[in-house]
Amino acid sequence: MGRVALVTGGTRGIGESICVGLKEQGYDVVANYGGNDQAAAEFSERTGIDTIKFDVSDFDAVAGGIKQIEESKGPVEVLVNNAGITRDGTMHKMNFEQWNQVIQTNLSSCFNTCRAVIEGMRKREFGRIVNIGSVNGQAGQYGQVNYAAAKSGIHGFTKALAQEGAAKGITVNAIAPGYVETDMVRAVPQPVLDKIIATIPVGRLGQPEDIARAVLFLVADDATFITGSTLSINGGQHMY
Ligand code: CAA
Repeated sequence: MGRVALVTGGTRGIGESICVGLKEQGYDVVANYGGNDQAAAEFSERTGIDTIKFDVSDFDAVAGGIKQIEESKGPVEVLVNNAGITRDGTMHKMNFEQWNQVIQTNLSSCFNTCRAVIEGMRKREFGRIVNIGSVNGQAGQYGQVNYAAAKSGIHGFTKALAQEGAAKGITVNAIAPGYVETDMVRAVPQPVLDKIIATIPVGRLGQPEDIARAVLFLVADDATFITGSTLSINGGQHMY
């Protein structure tokens, strides 16, 4: 078996595509999920990939989940922080819960997972971390102060951790997807989504595979000189 790879939010959407791509490349993949048992069971049946349930926003649950993976499969050498939620709403209507859930799930989760794997990666002098940001973390988005702040935070987090890992064989990169055809984007009201699609020069939503192929590129063993970068994959919507 190849290197152990953990993908958070790995059983649906972009995460599923990343898991399948990694498996095809020979990685020993584990897909984390937070709540949807049925989707996870269907995913496992479809792909043959193991799943593990824990809440990425819960520091202790993450530590426990990663310990369990490492005891059964070996050290996590590839980590893809993909789990994310939206709680959209304009600032004047947003409550603290909407703010906090998004910050904890989308941003604090990266601290929780990275903290659990970083010491092992440093000791072994190898690690590949990819954090999934967003075009909306780069450009902002009406109705998403919480999400844009969390995703923008991911981009800063990536650059700081990349500096710390560089001398230890650990690369840390971010991908900033644009609007990709997933349940999350399908939940945007159609008239709003139509207006957004009109701003994408390629003229369509992205596909999960458009993101997965970049993850494979960044986590490769020989991708040793790419660190601290943010790869924008958004059909030309925002050139940053
Ligand atoms: N810029 C300026 N004004 C805007 C605007 C925009 N982008 N979008 C809406 N408005 C205006 C509307 O025209 C409207 O103005 P009037 O009252 O004068 O007509 C006003 O703002 C209120 O708009 P809504 O009726 O839409 O307000 P709402 O409170 O019902 O809904 C919202 C607000 C929930 C944020 C809704 O606009 C929405 O869902 N927007 C989409 C947010 C979005 O893109 N989310 C991305 C989810 S996917 C994702 O996040 C993945 C990723 O990484 C890319």
